[in-house]
Amino acid sequence: MNFLEKMKTWQDLINLRLDQALHSADLQPARLHTAMRHSMNAGGKRLRPILALAAHELFPGKHDPVPAGLALECIHTYSLIHDDLPAMDNSDLRRGRPSCHKAFDEATAILAGDAFQPLAFEILANAYIAEPELAIDLIQILAKTAGSLRLVGGQMQDLVSEGTVPDEDKLSYIHSNKTAAMIQAAIQMGFRLGSKGKVDRKMKQIGKVGHSLGLAFQAVDDLLDVSSTTTELGKDALHDIESGKITWVTLKGEDEARRLAAGHTNDARQFLKPVGGDSSFLNELMNFMLERNH
Ligand code: IPE
Ligand code: IPE
Ligand code: MG
Ligand code: MG
Ligand code: MG
Repeated sequence: MNFLEKMKTWQDLINLRLDQALHSADLQPARLHTAMRHSMNAGGKRLRPILALAAHELFPGKHDPVPAGLALECIHTYSLIHDDLPAMDNSDLRRGRPSCHKAFDEATAILAGDAFQPLAFEILANAYIAEPELAIDLIQILAKTAGSLRLVGGQMQDLVSEGTVPDEDKLSYIHSNKTAAMIQAAIQMGFRLGSKGKVDRKMKQIGKVGHSLGLAFQAVDDLLDVSSTTTELGKDALHDIESGKITWVTLKGEDEARRLAAGHTNDARQFLKPVGGDSSFLNELMNFMLERNH
């Protein structure tokens, strides 16, 4: 199987398992469950679950890594639903569909996002209950990542920085936390599920891979905002400029943002080398994430 075929196979698998993990749309309250499915099934790239599977593949273990991927996608999808709310980025389009608050209403979107958060932890606890130490490690990684020092903290700083003079420290903080944290968690959780996941030294090293890859990912997201189209993106292009966001593009221009994205991807590749294992897919995935057009 070549790289793109494997991506497609994994995306299909994740979509199928997400479909099984989510409540059916007609379960009471149907409006809430329909809204959750509206946002989840709109066709995201599923990169965080795929990163978890790819990191697990370095040293495959006996545990199924897919539930860890589903939990990551629940947190990610909640973060997108809330990110789009009028009080946050005020974005009307997401994953090629009206964003949750547009298709439903603000209260429903808030609640759909809320409901995805405990669902993530329920999935982890249920899937790995037979090995409590593993379950707790995964829950700890994801809980810490989703919290006020990482994802939510990064989102807060992103919002309060709107319209301010951009500087490198602020931007590094925002990107490390609102985006890189989840990419890092995906790789660490996948690795933790593998046969070498308990080796502390390697967990630290794999964390560095995720951090650099996450910084590259947000630099590309910021670039795509100015270089791609709304149709390609499935979300509104030129939105960052309109809302006064600080990005590498606004701070240093497109060329430098592109150099940074390539540099961070290269760092990730170098950090991955001493980890060892079967890294062929993960290496190709890093390339794909850099070269993507949406
Ligand atoms: C978008 O993430 C939000 C960021 C952290 C930049 P993705 O580009 O992975 O969005 P989906 O999941 O494919 O829709
Ligand atoms: C969002 O960053 C990161 C999240 C935690 C959701 P952006 O605001 O740049 O993401 P998009 O461009 O709306 O997908
Ligand atoms: Mg945002
Ligand atoms: Mg946004
Ligand atoms: Mg963006």
